[in-house]
Amino acid sequence: MADDDNYPVESDRRRFVKGVVGGGVLSGLLTVGAASVTMATTPSGGGGGRMDYRGAVREMGPAPRGLPQIPIEIDDEGYLQGIWPEPETVEQGSTEYQVSRTEIAGTEYSTEWYQYCGVQTFPGIAPDADGQDAYFRYDTSASGDYPWMEEVSGGDRIHIEDLEGYEDWGNGIGEDGLGKPATATWRSQNVAAENTIPIIVIRSTRIEEMAQDDEWVAETCPQGCVAYLNKCTHFCCVPGYKRLGESGNYGNGDDRIYCNCHQSVYNPFDITEQQLIALPRPEGDDE
Ligand code: FES
Repeated sequence: MADDDNYPVESDRRRFVKGVVGGGVLSGLLTVGAASVTMATTPSGGGGGRMDYRGAVREMGPAPRGLPQIPIEIDDEGYLQGIWPEPETVEQGSTEYQVSRTEIAGTEYSTEWYQYCGVQTFPGIAPDADGQDAYFRYDTSASGDYPWMEEVSGGDRIHIEDLEGYEDWGNGIGEDGLGKPATATWRSQNVAAENTIPIIVIRSTRIEEMAQDDEWVAETCPQGCVAYLNKCTHFCCVPGYKRLGESGNYGNGDDRIYCNCHQSVYNPFDITEQQLIALPRPEGDDE
């Protein structure tokens, strides 16, 4: 398991991030700035704009909002994939663009939920991206934090049976038995590393319990599995679930998804409706 930061104190990257953003006030300005950019650029881009989404609640730290959830379906062979609706063409002013959206349990789910932090420019986020399916594939670069992942290979699809033992899984950080995690990528086959979409998947009895009285959770979290885009809504670092012992110093961070760049904490077991301003995909990226 790792006890160090992603950005050691001495690193230029950490000094830059700490220097640019100090807290919630500045993150609020960041949100307003994003809104201004969107309004200025949406007419010529593909999609984007203000929308409701479902995500993990931000419990503390400067992040302005929660991590967007990725609805899951499990195929007949037991492999996990994110729901990626059939693309449709819509008009926005004089511009036509493609969007993937559908209604699930009374909520309009759209893949525009993930258009922030530069993800809107990633090839896989285009509704009709070439060569991309919707399966979750392991990213084993963090398997030192999750020893069970040493049994799988990077790039392999996640199978539901891989997540057995979730009822009592633990790695010495926080409470055991909350949920068994896997780090993975989504719609990122054969793309440059910087264009990879990182996700976190957790199978948990808490999610199973939530599904009993929440139709959205029942429809999008089969067999206790929940998935999130693993991009911090503050300054786009990749957070971690039970990856740093120090996360226990920040609320319940050792039992949550914790971003060590500026100590934002997200609760993967508390899914609510939230609002974001999705940035448009670059013009022509969806044609
Ligand atoms: S808290 Fe700042 S990038 Fe995550």
